[in-house]
Amino acid sequence: MKILHVVGARPNFMKVAPILKALRAHPEVRSLLVHTGQHYDFAMSQAFFRDLDLPAPDEFLNVGSGTHAEQTARIMTAFEPILARERPNWVLVVGDVNSTLACALSAAKLHVPLAHVEAGLRSFDRTMPEEINRLATDSLADLLLTPSADADANLRREGVAAARIRCVGNVMIDALCEHLPAARALGRPAALGLAPRAYAVLTLHRPSNVDDPTILGRIAIGLRRVAAQAPVIFPVHPRARTAVAAVLGAEALSLGAAAPDAARPPGLYVADPLPYLEFLGLTAEAGVVLTDSGGLQEETTALGVPCVTIREHTERPITVTTGTNLLVGTDPERLAAAALEALAGRGKRGALPPLWDGRTAPRIVHELLAPRTGRAAGLPAPPSAFDSTTPKGS
Ligand code: UD1
Repeated sequence: MKILHVVGARPNFMKVAPILKALRAHPEVRSLLVHTGQHYDFAMSQAFFRDLDLPAPDEFLNVGSGTHAEQTARIMTAFEPILARERPNWVLVVGDVNSTLACALSAAKLHVPLAHVEAGLRSFDRTMPEEINRLATDSLADLLLTPSADADANLRREGVAAARIRCVGNVMIDALCEHLPAARALGRPAALGLAPRAYAVLTLHRPSNVDDPTILGRIAIGLRRVAAQAPVIFPVHPRARTAVAAVLGAEALSLGAAAPDAARPPGLYVADPLPYLEFLGLTAEAGVVLTDSGGLQEETTALGVPCVTIREHTERPITVTTGTNLLVGTDPERLAAAALEALAGRGKRGALPPLWDGRTAPRIVHELLAPRTGRAAGLPAPPSAFDSTTPKGS
């Protein structure tokens, strides 16, 4: 059995790492790791391979940045010959980034069985590129591995047969459980002069929040109120760097090392993107996390840290109904009030959703290895599909 795993962007790495690790117990399975190169900066990619102990990719497609069409097309063009050559029993894609959709399309066109981890999530907001990627990937996948019951319900409502859906839990939490002790042991908050629960962590990179200066300006009003009371640590995603500098540059401080034994004063502290362990260690001791990320809504729920999500809707509603997440949209008053409440120790408390237990990867492997019928039976794809890559006339 051969499984081809796809990663491309930062939030993919911590989902695939536990699956590859669980597959080490199955020497009969050959895993191939394909990195599309959607993310390529050291801080967005290699730093995660190092922290998560991921093997070097077998294939690096080096596609880089571009418009959605350019990026998707470049990934498909580079991925197709690898599929044709390797003929895996499964292509496994995770999450909702452009690499997920591009490789799902290539696999479906070549009749290669496709498994999607983190299937079924819906924000019901089609202005988000990720929502398009989720809908399209799920409609193509043979095996839909979901993190929670709400995702199953979404898929059933869309008419997906129950036999294709398996609720396996949240694989990102496997990575969190495994690496939390090492992340804590780094002692980064203390080294930065940050007392436990007395600071906020901020991330912002959604196009809807950072590409429109008016909206970013509104968010900035709320952030200033929080930063007047406590240190706010903001590792800035590369795509948001210019917009953040334009709107918040004047008041932003740089996150240098703290003076020994001195508490860091309130303020907005910007930094480059942080590696996985360092960021996890910082999040685990934060008083509140302010974010528009999807994964961070889940990680804060698992850590029991209050999360204030700067979005109108979430594709991860279980983090709101069960976890520590509160949606505040981009209203500065709501943002500041929720963050300051949490920093005062009155943040939202929550519970761990079912199956977010650090054992999702073995359940995924179990499903991949289970005997199946039809296209996902693990048989090589029909030759006609691969013949389409043969030059005409040969
Ligand atoms: C992508 C995902 C998003 C995810 C995010 C996590 C899509 C549609 N979006 O968004 O769902 O939350 O990753 O980080 O797939 N850039 C760099 N260096 C890099 C990568 C990107 O400088 O290593 C800059 C480039 O200017 C690039 C821009 O970021 O044009 C956007 O990158 P892209 O991969 O298109 O999407 P993200 O915004 O990173």
